Amino acid sequence: RMHELLEKYPVGKVSYLTSSLMSPVYQVTASAPVNIACIKYWGKRDTTLILPTNSSLSVTLSQDNLRSTTTSRSSSSFEKTRLWLNGVEEVIKPGARLDRCLAELRRMRKENVEDKDPSVPKLSTWNLHIASYNNFPTAAGLASSASGFAALTASVAALYGLNAFPQHPSSSYSPPADASQLSLIARQGSGSACRSLFGGFVAWEMGKDSNGRDSLAIQVAPESHWPSLHALICVVNSGKKGTSSTAGMQETVLTSELLKSRIKDVVPSRMSSITQAILAKDFDSFAKITMQDSNQFHAVCLDTFPPIFYLNDVSRAIIAIITELNRVSVEATGHLVAAYTFDAGPNAVIYTESENIKTIIQLLLNYFPIDFAASPFNDSFQLFGVGHPSAA
Ligand code: ADP
Ligand code: DP6
Ligand code: CO
Repeated sequence: RMHELLEKYPVGKVSYLTSSLMSPVYQVTASAPVNIACIKYWGKRDTTLILPTNSSLSVTLSQDNLRSTTTSRSSSSFEKTRLWLNGVEEVIKPGARLDRCLAELRRMRKENVEDKDPSVPKLSTWNLHIASYNNFPTAAGLASSASGFAALTASVAALYGLNAFPQHPSSSYSPPADASQLSLIARQGSGSACRSLFGGFVAWEMGKDSNGRDSLAIQVAPESHWPSLHALICVVNSGKKGTSSTAGMQETVLTSELLKSRIKDVVPSRMSSITQAILAKDFDSFAKITMQDSNQFHAVCLDTFPPIFYLNDVSRAIIAIITELNRVSVEATGHLVAAYTFDAGPNAVIYTESENIKTIIQLLLNYFPIDFAASPFNDSFQLFGVGHPSAA
């Protein structure tokens, strides 16, 4: 079973699975964490190339709680290209996102590797078997498409020799010099995925080009820049969301007036203010912009016709709790202590600095006692994953 191989083979190592009597099978496993946006991407100007209507900025989480791990195998003996997601085979639709990502990777393999060195195997002409696992709920508004397409792009790129992945299992992953180039490919799988190719604080610049060559991710600051910043993930509901991000944002583009002013009058200045806040480690300003942008993203969802609701009563209660906590703190010290943000789902991510984590967890546990005996990801309120941004 392919997914059992995930356990056995080290990340980033190209390995042969078969003896020389059979066709060789080349394999690489790569893993990528989710990223959570502070300035939200919501809207495409080109739905095929996945070009956004505004730039966005996120933090890549570092801990192991929310990641995708993807093994890609290539052999001349594979009869077709296949994908398994969490052990279940998915249909690969010709011309759809996954197919387009793979076509780009094959083209890069041919142009950058095979055409330059005719002695290398023609992997670009062979089929792939890809198996991916998410260690957290898929399609629940916890950015599985981001870690999923980042891990997939990273693993096929490494298999094809397109980047500087370490070949020795004991060396840790370091982002390849051309991570921004790979972000162009991951973007075509899922927009938010381009940001998961970097750790730390990452901007996705919307770009101007109609062919998307300048719509890529860049690192604003590495995780080591602000080690005291943490993200607390609050799983309110681990079920699959009603409206996928892809469908939801397209409805918004077609029907929301508010989106137009967000794109033009709001996001550009927020991108530069939050970048400055990050570089200055100014939590007050980082937190305020993050909360405002989450609020505006959910406002444009409500402004979509018919409206889209991602937040639920528990989400709104978390907003009220954090707002009250910040009010008391500003009165006492003049400073904010936490920032909530919600993607396309009811689950909260709370950014805070190390010294406040305990207070926030205690406060949330007061309102939402957890049955720690219950397994993770049941549909009760669960807290887990105090992390800090890190390398992908
Ligand atoms: P989310 O909020 O989890 O990102 P989306 O609606 O944006 O939800 O995307 C979910 C879709 O992303 C899944 O239905 C699947 O098609 C794709 N996806 C999720 N995880 C992976 C993965 N590990 N590998 C490939 N594709 C994935
Ligand atoms: C609310 O990247 O999942 O999380 O490009 O259609 O795959 P597609 O959408 P996706 O949208 C993410 C939306 C968001 C905000 C963000 O991550 O910036
Ligand atoms: Co997504």
